[in-house]
Amino acid sequence: MSPVESASAEEVTSSPLVLEMAGVSIDYERRRLRTRAVHDVTLSVAHGEMVGLVGESGSGKTSIAMSALGLVPIAEGSIRVNGRSIDYRRRRSILEAGAQAVFQSPYSSLDPAQPVKAILSEPIFHERLSRAAVVERVRSALEDVGLDPAAMERYPREFSGGQRQRISIARAMMAQPSLLICDEPTSALDLSVQAQVANLLLDLQERHRTSYLIIGHDLPLMNHLTSRLYVMYRGHIVEEGPTALVYGSPAHPYTRALVLAAPVPDPLKQRERRALAKATVGRTPAAEGGCAFAPRCPFSTELCIRETPQLRRVGEVSVACHHDEALGTTAATTTRTGTAQPALSPTITIAPADQAGSETGRGTHASL
Ligand SMILES: Nc1ncnc2c1ncn2[C@@H]1O[C@H](COP(=O)(O)OP(=O)(O)O)[C@@H](O)[C@H]1O
Ligand code: SF4
Ligand SMILES: [Mg+2]
Repeated sequence: MSPVESASAEEVTSSPLVLEMAGVSIDYERRRLRTRAVHDVTLSVAHGEMVGLVGESGSGKTSIAMSALGLVPIAEGSIRVNGRSIDYRRRRSILEAGAQAVFQSPYSSLDPAQPVKAILSEPIFHERLSRAAVVERVRSALEDVGLDPAAMERYPREFSGGQRQRISIARAMMAQPSLLICDEPTSALDLSVQAQVANLLLDLQERHRTSYLIIGHDLPLMNHLTSRLYVMYRGHIVEEGPTALVYGSPAHPYTRALVLAAPVPDPLKQRERRALAKATVGRTPAAEGGCAFAPRCPFSTELCIRETPQLRRVGEVSVACHHDEALGTTAATTTRTGTAQPALSPTITIAPADQAGSETGRGTHASL
């Protein structure tokens, strides 16, 4: 039996979780230099849940998506989709696990040389259905995403960006996945089309009870789409909890900076918030050991530089931070009193560049 066929039945466990990642680390090798892109990530998606993963570019979001799809190997930890162990070397176990993906660019992810019918048939090729049955599934998938079934005879270049992303979603839905991993599904689209695609994902979730892991950096959109949110920074999960809480009253200093950088309708407020966010979120060297955010964090102490903080429960969220006093108002109040208080306006401490990462570095508080 080839390694491809040897995914054994005993590897499958029953679980209320559609995706379970435990202690996952991912390494890449470049010019014989091995670097760790993802550190000890534990993440889950329950059946029917819409979970978000946010973080700035390079934080490891796509690596996590690729590992859950068996497209990159993991150095440590384990991944299960529908209880089935995902092994990079066993393609069949991955195909059978029931996860599909929608990627950022609807331009590069669709083969321009194939008509839509062929593109959509690919995920069900292994089911060896009759030609008529395949056409019926393609027709139904196109209707499901709001496209005319006649689209099946046309080529990707004949469609707009939004329509192409609908085709990508239809392709992913062809295999009737229980988990859909969407890596920045709207960020390559025009603003006007983004909401339509986001609403289509919500609509599909309602109709098919599909579970989602949605990766993105548009926090208001993630707030609209997801019920639970993970925040990543330089390969580490730094905060996790109900989206309304993480977005509405962020606890971790990095999440607070990320929320400040998110767009708001008032341009004056926007400029103010972005300036504050910039003071903590910029391109600075990663910390070697300790808290990855320490070089940018105004609350950083010697402990932060020495020891990597583990996620710990603070009220309804989990936060990877050593110091209660660095946490946002709701989380900090929860730690002190054991009950969450109503969200206060977000505050963030800005440290001068030379102070960030110092032993006691405390900056000036700026309330918004
Ligand atoms: N194939 C690869 N080879 C080497 N390094 C990679 C590769 N893919 C990603 N990386 C690195 O891993 C880190 C995380 O990348 P990625 O997962 O793409 O982050 P994100 O999706 O959050 O932007 C980055 O530093 C990136 O340069
Ligand atoms: S206070 Fe320390 S542990 Fe918490 S985010 Fe800042 S540097 Fe990291
Ligand atoms: Mg990415």
